[in-house]
Amino acid sequence: MKIVVIGGGGLIGSKLVTKLREQGHEAVAASPKSGVNSLTGEGLAEALNGASVVVDVSNAPSWDDLAVMQFFETSTRNLLTHEAAAAGVGHHVDENLCRSLRRLLRATGIRLLGLTMAASS
Ligand SMILES: NC(=O)c1ccc[n+]([C@@H]2O[C@H](COP(=O)([O-])OP(=O)(O)OC[C@H]3O[C@@H](n4cnc5c(N)ncnc54)[C@H](OP(=O)(O)O)[C@@H]3O)[C@@H](O)[C@H]2O)c1
Repeated sequence: MKIVVIGGGGLIGSKLVTKLREQGHEAVAASPKSGVNSLTGEGLAEALNGASVVVDVSNAPSWDDLAVMQFFETSTRNLLTHEAAAAGVGHHVDENLCRSLRRLLRATGIRLLGLTMAASS
């Protein structure tokens, strides 16, 4: 299965790419260094061609609140737009969204799908 890892050249992404390849998947490490930029859209159409899954483990270059919000808003919009155009992408996994949701659930004590978020998760 072709799985595109956005941020696949980073600390988390490179480990993920290695693990996916070990499991026999065609894992593509996509990041600006490999010519794929989710912020500008450069190289996205080519990278997503034939992909079944996109995993986003990219990181914003600056952790200033506004810059982070703008990075993930623009980047995620670009990814989803290109995924919709590329027939075949059935799953989008967003590490940042999962982490934010986990934090929100932990902070509020909200239960989701019957799961209680453990304090250490
Ligand atoms: N490191 C941890 O211990 C840890 C723990 C929990 C959660 N996280 C989260 O996991 C995510 C990744 O963390 P990390 O430590 O692996 O970050 P990282 O080492 O800084 O890697 C970030 C990756 O994002 C890529 N990237 C930056 N701008 C991009 C763009 N415009 N388009 C596409 N890719 C872009 C980088 O590309 P290049 O390779 O081309 O520079 C790099 O591959 C972050 O959201 C972080 O908050 C990290």
